[in-house]
Amino acid sequence: MRKAVYQIILSITVLMLVSSMVYSQNTVPDTSVHKWWKEAIVYQVYPRSFKDNDGDGVGDLKGIISQLDYIKSLGVNVVWLNPIYNSPNDDNGYDVSDYRNIMKDFGTMADFDLLLKGMHERGLKLVMDLVVNHSSDEHEWFKQSRSSRTSPYRNYYHWWNAERGKPPYRYSLFDVNHDAWRYDSLTNAYYLHFFSQKQPDLNWENPKLRQEVYSIMKFWANKGIDGFRLDAFQFAAKDTTWPAFPKGFEKNFIQYYGMQGNLHGYLQEMNKEVLSKYDVMSVAEGAGSTFEDAHNLVDADRHELNMAYAFDGVDLAKPEGYSVLRLKSIFTKWDSAFDEKGWLSIFLANHDQARLVSRYGNDSRQFRDVSAKMLMTFLMTMRGTPYYYNGDELGMTNAGFTKIEDYRDVQTINEYKRQKSIGASLPAYIKRIGFESRDNGRTPFQWNNQANAGFTSGTPWIKVNPNYKTINAAAQEKDLNSTLNYFRKVVKLRKDNLVLVYGKYTLLDKNNPNVYAYTRELDGKKMLILLNFSGKPAVFNTDINIRNATLLLSNYKKGLESRALLPYEAAVYLLK
Ligand code: NOJ
Repeated sequence: MRKAVYQIILSITVLMLVSSMVYSQNTVPDTSVHKWWKEAIVYQVYPRSFKDNDGDGVGDLKGIISQLDYIKSLGVNVVWLNPIYNSPNDDNGYDVSDYRNIMKDFGTMADFDLLLKGMHERGLKLVMDLVVNHSSDEHEWFKQSRSSRTSPYRNYYHWWNAERGKPPYRYSLFDVNHDAWRYDSLTNAYYLHFFSQKQPDLNWENPKLRQEVYSIMKFWANKGIDGFRLDAFQFAAKDTTWPAFPKGFEKNFIQYYGMQGNLHGYLQEMNKEVLSKYDVMSVAEGAGSTFEDAHNLVDADRHELNMAYAFDGVDLAKPEGYSVLRLKSIFTKWDSAFDEKGWLSIFLANHDQARLVSRYGNDSRQFRDVSAKMLMTFLMTMRGTPYYYNGDELGMTNAGFTKIEDYRDVQTINEYKRQKSIGASLPAYIKRIGFESRDNGRTPFQWNNQANAGFTSGTPWIKVNPNYKTINAAAQEKDLNSTLNYFRKVVKLRKDNLVLVYGKYTLLDKNNPNVYAYTRELDGKKMLILLNFSGKPAVFNTDINIRNATLLLSNYKKGLESRALLPYEAAVYLLK
């Protein structure tokens, strides 16, 4: 009897060993290894504009706490919060003066602790913005650094002593003169700022600085946050031999600024010291300028980050429109570049963009709702982790301010000054920013049709879009067919169907200029997604017979009756 038991145990052990060998020999693509952050649906909250609790006109943490049930009701499971640290707000919190404290406008650390607790109680995870390509010029490090050439903090930033002459030109994205070197008379030297003058670049080549950052990350990870979004991190490492760049390089500056020096080494160090020690997700803003760059950031074997987001898709929309063929080709190329290794982020809007429906859909009265729903269907049925910006679930639109005084964004305002100084046409500039300024996406969240859209009882820091009387969450809650309720449905569809997360993506009807059609397929389950990106009926061509397919979701009342899609029609089918 005992012998028989031994034999059984022995054969089970052998079986387990053999099967584990077979499994490890199998080439299971990285991309199908299940992870919570791959299955996440990230909802981005722009704290300044979400909900003001204390009536000072600026959104705050207590405001967000008061709306956690709303966020939960969307079905999303991760919240990415733009920076909430102490900041003089030259760039709305992207200029941090103290990484371990909460900006006064937003509340206190006790509010933060409550917010995190409230999220976790509801099964929501929290991803924080980590802004460490630069700090504020009001950060203690920079104050010390600029005070003397011999300060121990001098090397926390990049300085060029003026007796060497002018430093080689570097382009600044936010500077009035586009000049990234600012002269500081205190020590007769220039400091580097890729963004505004109040955002000096940190010196990642300095190991002490890197340790400071890891310690900040541990501080927040120990509080229990669930991830980091690394702001502008592709620019963090610099070639400190400061070579001259060719004239006009700024048109392609990512090629010169992105992924320089030992950036990957720093990320591996960060991973070893911090990321690998916590169950946190990590996402980089920017992915360099080639697929290789992007891969090197996110291949699991390299131990750097989980995912990155690239700008090809989000940069496509222009006032004159965009090519749907190009959009299809961009998303298809990115998908195939990551079908074996690494992981993608899927998005078409965030706080650095104007509104999703105004740029990629159609914000006219006739098509706003249906085109917003079509875009949601697209973003929620692609492979990769979708990021969805607050307000887009209501189909909020561009405010399109026509006076520069109504704008608040440092980039928009400084560029206006520059256009003026070079004698360019200001009306043309105002028209352009009406379509593309980041402030279009930063107007207050439209909660209801009461004063200031229910955002604040005070004076909002930026004007509310006047269309809040009709476009608001309260009205949409009551309407089963609203944009908001459709968002909930499409989010649920994704959550209920892992095929939409991990399934293979195949583009159909590639050359169709209006229809974006594709299938997603996993373990014998196959879905067909049909999207008309145009305001006209559009025919699509595939061999797939949809007569026997089950319609899972559509932004029109019925499914397709013919091979023509209605304007901005979106349909998701389960194929037999
Ligand atoms: C990218 C952020 O998303 C943007 O809002 C900010 O202005 C720049 N980085 C500088 O931090």
